[in-house]
Amino acid sequence: MRTQVGIIGAGPAGLLLSHLLHLRGISSVVLEKRSRDYVERRVRAGVLEQGTVDTLVEAGVGGRLLREGLPHHGIELRYGGAGHRIPFEKLVPGRAITVYGQQEVVKDLIAARLEAGGDVRFEVEDVAIHSPEDRPYLTSGGERLDCDVIAGCDGFHGVSRPSVPPGVLRTYERDYPFAWLGILARVAPSSEELIYARNERGFALHSMRTPEISRFYLQVPPDADVAEWPDERIWAELKARLETVPGFALTTGEIIEKGVTPMRGFVTEPMQYGRLYLAGDAAHIVPPTGAKGLNLAVADVRVLTEALAAFFHDGSTGLLDGYSEACLKRVWRAQHFSWWMTTLLHTFDSDDDYGRRLQLSHLDYVTSSEAAATTLAENYVGLPFP
Ligand code: FAD
Ligand code: DHB
Repeated sequence: MRTQVGIIGAGPAGLLLSHLLHLRGISSVVLEKRSRDYVERRVRAGVLEQGTVDTLVEAGVGGRLLREGLPHHGIELRYGGAGHRIPFEKLVPGRAITVYGQQEVVKDLIAARLEAGGDVRFEVEDVAIHSPEDRPYLTSGGERLDCDVIAGCDGFHGVSRPSVPPGVLRTYERDYPFAWLGILARVAPSSEELIYARNERGFALHSMRTPEISRFYLQVPPDADVAEWPDERIWAELKARLETVPGFALTTGEIIEKGVTPMRGFVTEPMQYGRLYLAGDAAHIVPPTGAKGLNLAVADVRVLTEALAAFFHDGSTGLLDGYSEACLKRVWRAQHFSWWMTTLLHTFDSDDDYGRRLQLSHLDYVTSSEAAATTLAENYVGLPFP
């Protein structure tokens, strides 16, 4: 069988790419190793930048997002016994974020692909990439798929990046000495907006999904095991880190999901090799504090769609050749922002009193200077697309 674009991975990057290519009249096949049920239930990101929302709406897959997503016009930074609001409506007028679960985006994209007769295959085994330099093809479970181009959208642990011969890609990496324990709870949010809390016990984040479901994260040791975190311990720790301002009480409820995520920054350069193009987590990872991972995947896919449209419609390769360079500017900006948010809000075992005072001084600056707060706000809602 043959297709124009063979896409590995049915995460947000692969599914959105398949959908955007379809809108341009370009065929694709998506190969996903997990089941449809698994990818639709995988709880991950929740914060969509303005540009991500606009992209999904313009592509005709934003109906439920606009109905059910929760627009937010600010976030709170909580530390030193007080909360400080970063008001997007004042600092970056007309731009906001929308809280809408990643798995809802994935459900909407799968529904749109299937409704349009798209070829999305789940539970495919042992996908392998062959001759990415020229005349590439994919194999899986004894079947062969010839492609003009391959898009590696298979996340950080996929097969695409390791298929590039050694010595071609340069990688940049930083591991953080902690992880995040994330939970989903059947309880109304205790705050209308997200709370990023810096605490001597470690960072905590209060987020939400719907008016009935809350999402929380706790900074935990890098080797933490969910088995060490029974529900009572999680609620006690969330209370200790979040109930630090007068009048704030955390409402607890049934915990319906728990997971531990390691924290790392990672970039591969370039994001392409021959006819293989990497997009999303396959090419880069950010620590989640800046809520940038999903949004970067969308940004890559926008660039790749334009480049592929130029290639298939008039044979020009200029945009494809420049794909990596076009993406990496935004990737590195997001790396810096995510590193900055992470160091601003987490505790580090290596910190001495001097380091702690620097962190508090910087938080005071961000929450009292309009220029500093604007820097945070414009990066958090996402810089406009070029
Ligand atoms: P993925 O979502 O990882 O999709 C890759 C797909 O490829 C998967 O379905 C996988 O099963 C499949 N696959 C892998 N290997 C193979 C193979 N060999 N063959 C076939 N298929 C394969 N980002 C934000 O923007 N905002 C946030 O608020 C945010 N919060 C986060 C919170 C947590 C707890 C986590 C874990 C992440 C968060 N992120 C956030 C990051 C975000 O979830 C990722 O950046 C996003 O999932 C990247 O999408 P992707 O499509 O590139 O990769
Ligand atoms: C969520 C995740 C993040 O990484 C973040 O910075 C904010 C919110 C969330 O899952 O809701």
